[in-house]
Amino acid sequence: MKTAKLILDGKEYELPIVVGSEGEVGIDIRGLRSATRAVTLDSGFANSGSCSSEITFIDGEKGILRYRGYPIEQIAENATFTEVAYLLIYGSRPGADELAEFNRKLTYHSLIHEDMKNFFSGFPATAHPMAILSAMVASLSSYYPRSAIDNNELNIIRLLSKARTIAAFSYKKSIGQPFMYPSNELSYTENFLHMMFSVPAEPYRISPVMERALNLLLILHADHEQNCSTSTVRMVGSSEANIFASISAGINALWGPLHGGANQKVIEMLTRIRDDGGNYEKYVDLAKDKDSDFRLMGFGHRVYKNFDPRAKILKAAADEVLEEMGKNDPLLDIAKNLERIALEDDYFVERRLYPNVDFYSGILYRAMGIPTNMFTVMFALGRLPGWIAHWREMRLDPDGRIYRPRQIYTGSTRRDW
Ligand code: COA
Repeated sequence: MKTAKLILDGKEYELPIVVGSEGEVGIDIRGLRSATRAVTLDSGFANSGSCSSEITFIDGEKGILRYRGYPIEQIAENATFTEVAYLLIYGSRPGADELAEFNRKLTYHSLIHEDMKNFFSGFPATAHPMAILSAMVASLSSYYPRSAIDNNELNIIRLLSKARTIAAFSYKKSIGQPFMYPSNELSYTENFLHMMFSVPAEPYRISPVMERALNLLLILHADHEQNCSTSTVRMVGSSEANIFASISAGINALWGPLHGGANQKVIEMLTRIRDDGGNYEKYVDLAKDKDSDFRLMGFGHRVYKNFDPRAKILKAAADEVLEEMGKNDPLLDIAKNLERIALEDDYFVERRLYPNVDFYSGILYRAMGIPTNMFTVMFALGRLPGWIAHWREMRLDPDGRIYRPRQIYTGSTRRDW
């Protein structure tokens, strides 16, 4: 067995090495503190593996993303979102019958309890839909309180299905239109578009281009291993908090502009550049200026240091979808020009900053008629299967423990009151 050696205060310690199925090497420090009284310090956890996981593989250097071993490019080309959800959560591709049954359950659990509709009227019309989504998802636990693992299969279905209804209702609330109930005739993604855009007087005509684009966006967001929100879900779930509470915490973590909130910020940035006469250089310079707090939103990634494979797929899709729909979005041209200029600039090249998934996703959401403040909600709907898969994997892990990091205390030493 390979080991790593640590010398601390002249004393040598041997630490086991763990190797993942793609050859990733980890130094196992689980026995470190009890052996040495020392801990490791890794702010932002950039060098720490918090768990072993079989769900998603990323190689940021090579721009690789795979769900359960399948390359994202192949999945994006061939799968539907619910198929991907099944794959992520249960570990293998569903057979035709399994998928039909999974879809059937998602269809039949799409309504929210009528009483929950009253909650919506308590929020101000200006409420951010992420605030509503996280509060409503946490509230689901008051309707389905059992958190025993045997009951969770049904709660998983409820969560996947009802979060979509809640998201659409929060949009309807924000524009003062009546809620549209889900229809059992429609697929998962069609149903979402229907609940968002139909009005009682006129059902929304769902274009296949739109439905395909939505499927693609949700699939590309479906999992990304131990990112901030997924780690939050695992962290909260590790205390054995119920699935709704755990996922609601993940939704809140996603909301921040350095994570899922970035897609909204990208469109705001592109709009600002457009309104300022389209002067890209000025904004590239601003992003490089350490005295300004401006960053190129949708650029850079903690893990991808080559390119984000999802951004590549979405850039191509944005072109296709806009063309098929006969739409022209000046923000797409601004985004492409900004990308070109930034990628030629030493600052971005040296720091290996590339467009991430959020850089082009907003353009697609705009083309679909989804308002900017719903973008992060869309990300959350896409990420649900990933969060659920990680929550489930963690809860089923016989070696699972409550998350409880250590710290290096740097405050005052003892002093008298
Ligand atoms: N624009 C300008 N400079 C950027 C940048 C951006 N978008 N992203 C990173 N940098 C610079 C940092 O200033 C830093 O420069 P320095 O070494 O001279 O101090 C360097 O690149 C490394 O950045 P750092 O913040 O340490 O990287 P990180 O791994 O902690 O952060 C992100 C990753 C994604 C949070 C960061 O790149 C970012 O804020 N991007 C914009 C927000 C975004 O798109 N988020 C969505 C992620 S999917």
